[in-house]
Amino acid sequence: MIIKRYGLAIVAALFIGGHVNAADIMAGEAFSANCTSCHGNNGISPSAEVPNLAGQLPDYIVKRVNSFRDAKQGDSLMHGLANLLNNPQDIENVAAYYGSLPRARYKSTNKSLIEAGKRVYFGTYNCSLCHGSDGRGESPTNGATSPMVVGQSKRYILKALYDFRTNKRTSNEGYMMNLILPSVSEENIDAVAEYLSSQ
Ligand code: HEC
Ligand code: HEC
Repeated sequence: MIIKRYGLAIVAALFIGGHVNAADIMAGEAFSANCTSCHGNNGISPSAEVPNLAGQLPDYIVKRVNSFRDAKQGDSLMHGLANLLNNPQDIENVAAYYGSLPRARYKSTNKSLIEAGKRVYFGTYNCSLCHGSDGRGESPTNGATSPMVVGQSKRYILKALYDFRTNKRTSNEGYMMNLILPSVSEENIDAVAEYLSSQ
């Protein structure tokens, strides 16, 4: 049973290499009981405003959780979990678990908006340079992780992009987002969010 259930995760862990192993993922699944009320079962959130964690890069999950925990005025819901999140191993485990799950998929039939968004993503603003041509993100060894940007609801992507645009959301790694977004028109933000959420 266990092998059947975790077999893929073990293979994934072997590919990722290093410190991720099946035991971490299993411990992470247990710890994720603290997250499901908002992030849903299997890391797919019931609310379009709460990000999905399924398939997200583990490095990015760790960074974001640490920044919520350490923020003086973080997102109040995540910051409220600070006491729960003070063991680094728990965070590594839960990040490995969510990273091993299949990402969410959403459908859109608005072909022209998707096409326009694709042009923004690959052309005008070169989003793909950091987030990858498939939107799965990049986790280079120098630590400059860019998150997966597919597998999220359009609503959450819009929220994130406007939070960067207005500097409501800032981070050391994300400064480029704060630099780029003010120059992206509302129309293009809408289009790129449609494109990403439909992939
Ligand atoms: C009470 C609700 C709640 C609980 C419980 C909760 N979260 Fe969150 N989480 C949120 C909200 C809301 C956001 C979005 C914050 C934002 O957009 O600024 C979020 C964002 C995140 C993000 C950022 C994702 C991204 O794509 O940038 C990560 C990572 C995360 N949570 C991890 C966790 C983990 C791990 C747990 C369990 C230990 C957890 N959360 C429990 C509400 C919650
Ligand atoms: C120079 C690299 C770079 C470029 C170019 C870039 N991004 Fe990002 N992006 C990042 C990084 C790094 C973060 C994570 C910031 C953080 O830690 O909060 C991020 C975060 C995001 C997020 C939030 C993801 C989440 O789960 O909360 C979205 C959505 C996003 N980028 C979309 C875009 C789009 C659309 C473009 C093009 C208009 C773009 N990015 C261009 C590096 C980049």
